[in-house]
Amino acid sequence: MDESAWATLKRAAGEARGNAYAPYSSFAVGAAVLSESGRVFTGCNVENASYGATICAERAALSAAVTAGERELVALVIVSGAKSAIPPCGICRQSLAEHGPALAIRSYAGEAQSDYELSALLPEAFGRRHLD
Ligand code: THU
Repeated sequence: MDESAWATLKRAAGEARGNAYAPYSSFAVGAAVLSESGRVFTGCNVENASYGATICAERAALSAAVTAGERELVALVIVSGAKSAIPPCGICRQSLAEHGPALAIRSYAGEAQSDYELSALLPEAFGRRHLD
């Protein structure tokens, strides 16, 4: 992916982070995904008084993409305010693997930046084929 595409996703994720609902952790996260067809979808974390009901920014963005009819994702940007760039959590890795096993991931936290590839973050992912 070229740098301008990453910049577009970073801007979108940063904007989404502004809507994060994180009254319990005060850890606001924004995410933006790029679908195979070139569309961008965003999400933020949405916490809940029943803590386990919290949804992460990455799964919120994934849900927005699927809701719009997209199936395959090619890139994901995460924006947080952490001390260092954060990788997606385990639940998000599993959810994302179904829609982009080779997903390119870039995470920003202030000046910090890290790049990941989903297949390296979740090798041997359980998937649809295992249900056969
Ligand atoms: N969170 C995300 O939205 N994405 C991540 O990659 C890590 C964690 C959220 C969940 C919760 O609302 C808060 O950050 C603290 O874990």
